[in-house]
Amino acid sequence: MTDQRSPRPGNEDALPARPGSVPGTGEHSHDDGREPGREVEHHHGDPVADPGLHEHVPRPSDVDPALDKRAERLVATMFGLSALLTLAFCVAYFAIPEDAVVANTSAMNLALGGTLGLALLFIGFGAVHWARTLMDDHEIVELRHDAASPAEDRAEAVATIEQGNTESGFGRRPLIRNTLVASMGALGLPTVVLLRDLGPLPGSDPKTTVWANGVRVVEDPSGEPIRPEELTVGSLVNCEPGVFFETDEEGEPLYEGTELLNAKAKAAVIVVKMAPEEITPTEGREDWGVDGVLCFSKICPHLGCPISLWEQQTRNLICPCHQSTFDLADGGSVVFGPAKRPVPQLQLGVDDDGYLIALGDFADPVGPSFPEMYQD
Ligand code: FES
Repeated sequence: MTDQRSPRPGNEDALPARPGSVPGTGEHSHDDGREPGREVEHHHGDPVADPGLHEHVPRPSDVDPALDKRAERLVATMFGLSALLTLAFCVAYFAIPEDAVVANTSAMNLALGGTLGLALLFIGFGAVHWARTLMDDHEIVELRHDAASPAEDRAEAVATIEQGNTESGFGRRPLIRNTLVASMGALGLPTVVLLRDLGPLPGSDPKTTVWANGVRVVEDPSGEPIRPEELTVGSLVNCEPGVFFETDEEGEPLYEGTELLNAKAKAAVIVVKMAPEEITPTEGREDWGVDGVLCFSKICPHLGCPISLWEQQTRNLICPCHQSTFDLADGGSVVFGPAKRPVPQLQLGVDDDGYLIALGDFADPVGPSFPEMYQD
């Protein structure tokens, strides 16, 4: 068995001197600074005589000067290529017209990205190859020592504390000691009190939206109401609640500012139209659509990204963030990806004027799942 050990700097006597090393310096006597394998010697002073190290196998470049030279040339070639690519980057910057296009992509961006990316890559490859083939590969073993301080250090620490106690009178003056303890303890209270600023508690807010029976489903962002017959099979429309466009008696918007943004973030929906025979409604939701028109939350139940990538052929809705895929013909069920529950569906109807309306709020909370969601 062979072993490659180096004592810790400043602790050279912790390990036996190695054959071929210069005592006290940690330097090898080898000309190139590398030692291709050393015989292990078991010393009684070793805390672990056989630490189970694998036998050291010299690398080909350690023992064959021709391979050593070849590895050196290869590393130099990679670094040289990197330098050339960096120069090419500079040339491309000035030489390529800004409006030049290659394969629908800006030629300049392509050239700049390609040359700089490859230049960095070659530096990385060169450095890795250098380290793996040419740099010294001797292994170092560092012995563990007791974690505890020496007995005399601990005794000294105790003596220092006792001296401080005596000199400060901490033990002899209970009035000061107790009031100090009380004042230090009271400092923890603001930490608790300030937790109030994390509130108010959301209550049922995460589980509800502004959708309610009779709220019109209108196009986002125009606010145009929608008739089911106006939609073509296979279409998808981004929509929002019509109440966002309504005003009160004084002509003020019902929702505005932050309140509008928060409400809109939860209530965004998509409306899709399919051939009615393609739809497999969830049990109890047979009448949640109107002539093949269905409505679902636009907020991904995985982590809340807005979804409106719609595959007409498969009737799948795909989240662009982590590719959760929902089958809208099957109640929005998850067919792929990290989402753990179907995308929530909104029950649709039509009002007296024939426009799409919601018949209530979502049956399930919209947006990212949270553990307590289903606990009540
Ligand atoms: S947010 Fe949609 S899959 Fe992650």
